[in-house]
Amino acid sequence: MPKCCVIEGDGVGHEVIPAALAILQQVVPDLEAVPAVAGWDCFQKYGVSVPDATLTAIRECKAALFGAVSSPSYKVAGYRSAIITMRQSLDLYANIRPVQSMPGLSPRPGIDLVVVRENTEGLYAGRERMEGETAIAERVITRAASRRIGLRALQLARLTGRKRRLTIVHKANVLPVTDGLFRSSVHEVLKENGAEQDGLMVDELLVDTAAYQMVSSPESFDIIVTTNLFGDILSDAAAYWCGGMGMAPSLNWGEDIAIAEPVHGSAPDIAGKGIANPLAAILSAALLARYAWGLDETARRIETAVKTALVQDIPIEAYLLGKNNTTASVTQAVLAHLN
Ligand code: NAI
Ligand code: MG
Repeated sequence: MPKCCVIEGDGVGHEVIPAALAILQQVVPDLEAVPAVAGWDCFQKYGVSVPDATLTAIRECKAALFGAVSSPSYKVAGYRSAIITMRQSLDLYANIRPVQSMPGLSPRPGIDLVVVRENTEGLYAGRERMEGETAIAERVITRAASRRIGLRALQLARLTGRKRRLTIVHKANVLPVTDGLFRSSVHEVLKENGAEQDGLMVDELLVDTAAYQMVSSPESFDIIVTTNLFGDILSDAAAYWCGGMGMAPSLNWGEDIAIAEPVHGSAPDIAGKGIANPLAAILSAALLARYAWGLDETARRIETAVKTALVQDIPIEAYLLGKNNTTASVTQAVLAHLN
């Protein structure tokens, strides 16, 4: 029986995660849901953003649904972003962020790409300090982590049948030591594992050029593999093409543990109003089904129900204005199309 740890987190997490769980329970009827806490509210209450009990529950379930957490943009003694703590403590080294044109919603058709973001190091290594009046952040890139994210991108290409293009995104012209190592390690592991024999076209782009192309010609991308911060920024920009932050799913995927998580944050501006779009969380649940449990057909059922609901039931214009649609009505529309 598959088990899923359910962590709503903060803000709209309390609205979109119950929606995603309802969908998962419909398609995986014997699913056991194990609730757990993490985030800013949890920190205020218990003095820790991710209690040990939560990490233990995730390890036991091997899979989790996670909403989002609020993190202040200033230093708070003892607080560290819950999601970064989970990614690093559980070694969830890959963040898979697919972006597809969605019927009716996307400003442009024909986009189908996935950003594979290194999820444990880079500028998120958490090594920040003051030296007098100078603030320093260390950007950590290791050969081991660069190789395994390259391999994960290749594995994903093989699992999903993507063969068009695998683009390594870096800034090795300005950061020849760190990004030079990332670039050469990814090339090396792809070569050793026969990427080109698969027919995969491997190329590379500097991150600023990649950002321009994400705006000018997003349909040219297939798989992008990149470091932590570049992946964060590029995937938020790419989210525009699938219809906005409320539509973009992701999966934090380690060796044998995975946490599904919408790309968006806790959205304090709309939290508690019942109007948060649950589709990013629902599509993240589909990624969990596909990659954590190997239930490809189940994942497809969810994705097809979302697309059908978008075409048939959801008044998009009204939704974008935050008027007629609600989290509940959108969830019901998806549930109705699960067959
Ligand atoms: P955000 O993603 O929460 O919100 C950005 C914009 O997108 C807002 O206008 C919001 O209303 C909209 N939006 C987000 N989710 C939506 C949904 N499901 N449906 C409809 N509209 C949606 O990013 P923001 O405002 O920069 O950050 C808010 C908080 O979230 C911060 O404390 C930040 O640290 C945290 N955050 C947490 C993340 C995580 O836990 N993985 C990721 C990003 C931000
Ligand atoms: Mg982000």
